[in-house]
Parts: sequence; structure tokens; C-alpha cells
Amino acid sequence: MSDTPIIRFENVTQQYEGAGNVLSNISFELERGKFYTLLGPSGCGKTTILRLIAGFITPTTGDIYIEGKKVNHLPANERQVNTVFQDYALFPHLNVFENVAFGLRIKKLKKAEIDRRVKEALEFVNLKGYENREIQEMSGGQRQRVAIARAIVNDPEVILLDEPLSALDLKLRTEMQYELRELQQRLGKTFIFVTHDQEEALAMSDEIFVMNAGEIQQSGTPIDIYDEPINRFVADFIGESNIVSGEMVADYRVRFANKEFDCVDAGLNPNENVEIVIRPEDLEITTVADGKMAVTVDTQLFRGVHYEISTLDEAGNEWLVHSTKKAEVGSLIGLAFDPEAIHVMRLNESEDAFDARLEAYGEMANEK
Ligand SMILES: Nc1ncnc2c1ncn2[C@@H]1O[C@H](COP(=O)(O)OP(=O)(O)OP(=O)(O)O)[C@@H](O)[C@H]1O
Ligand SMILES: [Mg+2]
Repeated sequence: MSDTPIIRFENVTQQYEGAGNVLSNISFELERGKFYTLLGPSGCGKTTILRLIAGFITPTTGDIYIEGKKVNHLPANERQVNTVFQDYALFPHLNVFENVAFGLRIKKLKKAEIDRRVKEALEFVNLKGYENREIQEMSGGQRQRVAIARAIVNDPEVILLDEPLSALDLKLRTEMQYELRELQQRLGKTFIFVTHDQEEALAMSDEIFVMNAGEIQQSGTPIDIYDEPINRFVADFIGESNIVSGEMVADYRVRFANKEFDCVDAGLNPNENVEIVIRPEDLEITTVADGKMAVTVDTQLFRGVHYEISTLDEAGNEWLVHSTKKAEVGSLIGLAFDPEAIHVMRLNESEDAFDARLEAYGEMANEK
């Protein structure tokens, strides 16, 4: 029973009237009790996935399962799923207690039971003592917590959170990120969180689904996705990246910026055109003699923790460097990097093929 995915999408396609595919043939499985994040640019279909899970819409084609049971036509109120909306959708004319109690009153639970559950939910989100406050008297962060209490009071298996932190300022937002993550762990329920902020996704999730234009580009742990992006879109969307064109020479040998370098990738075809990713923090500033590549410093910005230095190689590629060392604009410097810092991406590789290739060569590397 616990092996059954809590949510499963099987070849789900979604069209709204008069529009093309908003979701194209999406399949995935979610495990119970994990924190998932849907990450992607505006309009890529994140909210649409949540609406399908919640039961506000039915898929145009394909099937949706909750705990192994097909739910395509199961009404929203019969699903063990609750949503925290972006604008919280609280009732302005009801106080905090009544906002949280609303769903329980509709279910006609006994008064004592409602009292107990609302108090418990408010305690969970650190709002004990705020029962009689009006919504207008609550701050943005507090309203956020009321909305979360209203979702968890029903004791759902799955909680959907649609960009719940986007209205908060940066400091409060960071605090709420910790709180939400901690809440999820205490409750042990499945959270599906939507954001278009990659740092937020990396900080909070057990697993991230990176979406673009109605498709899931890649899914995996934050570290997997950051370290091994499947393609240019993911590499670019998850953190700052240097992405240049290159060519495989042989296994563990790649060519870019008019030079050959050792790398850790294998299983590609000789002379195959590839894209190369190196993260700015993986580039080290050296003398020209000590570097693997010589570059000219174009611009330099102080970013508090590090300098952000933009450089150009002789082939005309831009290399962004994050370094605690300063460089002089206009000077020629060396860049050093480890073979592991080079991430080789195949053009148009499917996620399954990508995973299989990584696994095959990862096992070989471990045996060595
Ligand atoms: N009811 C609707 N009718 C027609 N098109 C819709 C409808 N709802 C959403 N869309 C379209 O479907 C696409 C996906 O919308 P969705 O709301 O899922 O995106 P999103 O990833 O949540 O974006 P955002 O980050 O801006 O909230 C968009 O192009 C949107 O315009
Ligand atoms: Mg949305």
C-alpha cells in the first residue's frame, strides 16, 4: 500500500477551449510524504497540474490516479487534497477561527470536534491566540499561515501550494520557506509546491520538476538537477550558468573554446555536437600560465559575497566567474576548473535516455 504512488499522472494532456496543448503528454509518480516542487516560467502549466490534482478540471486525455485509484471524474470535495492559493483566498468577513473552521462546518462536524481541530491547526502554524482576529488585522505572513491552517485542518494526504510565498518580502519569504519545510516534515504529508524561483525550489524540495511549455523537462533531487542539468533550458533556469557549444572527442574528452579538455562524461558518439555547462562558482581565477583557458576580463561587479566577473575567451564565448578574488578589467587572466566541473549535455536527449546514460557510466566509474 505504501508503495502505491500517492499521485500518478499517465500521459495527461490538457487543452483549454480555444487554446492548444497547455500540458503535453505528462507522466509522473509522486511518493507519499515528500516535498515536491513544480518549477518553471510563467504560463508553463504549473497551476494547471495543481488544478488537475485538486479536481477543479478533468484531463482532456490521459489518467490521474490518487493512491492507485483513477480519479479523472472524482469531484474536488471527495479528494484528500487541499489547496493553498497564491492570493490565499481567505474570507475577509470572517475572523481567523472561522476561516479555518469553514470547511469543517460545511462537513457538519460537531462543535467540540471543530474547536479542537481548528485550535490544533492554528497551533501548528504558530497562530495560537489569534483566533478572534479579523483577517484585515493580520500581516501578509500571518494571512499566509491562516491559509495553510485552513488547508491542514482537513487532514488531507496532499497539500497543494500555488506560489504561496510570492507576495511576501524577501526576509519573510526566507523565514516562511523554513517554516513550510519544517511543517511538511512534522505533518509527514505530501506537499506539492509551485514556484518560478529556482533558489526557493533548490532550498525546499525533496524533488523538483522543471517545466517548460507544458512539458516536464527534468525531474530529480535539487542536487541532481543542479549538477546534471539535462539541457540548456534546465541549466539556464536553475542558477547562473555558462553554456557553450562543444564537440565530444572521445569518452572522457571534449572540445570547446578551441581546446580539448578532460571530462567525466562518456557514452556519447565521437564528434557528437554537445553543449557544455560550467557553473560560475566552479571557475577559478589563476595566472594565464596556470589556467586551462586564457580569457579577457570584460566587466566586474561586487555582489557582497563574491565578485561577478564577466570574461571572454579567444573563441568569443562569454564565461561568467564567481570569485572572492578580484580581477582587473581589460587584463588577460587564466581560468582553472576540474574535469568534474564540465557538464556535457546532449542535444535533444530524452529524460529516460539521459538517466540511463548517467547510470551506465556512473556504475562504471564506481567500479574503477
Ligand atoms: N481557463 C483557461 N482557458 C484558456 N487558457 C488557459 C486557462 N487557464 C490557463 N490557460 C493557459 O494555459 C497556460 C498554462 O497556464 P497555467 O496557469 O497552468 O500556468 P502557470 O505555469 O501556473 O503560470 P504562472 O507562473 O504565470 O502562474 C497559459 O498559457 C494560460 O494562458
Ligand atoms: Mg500559476
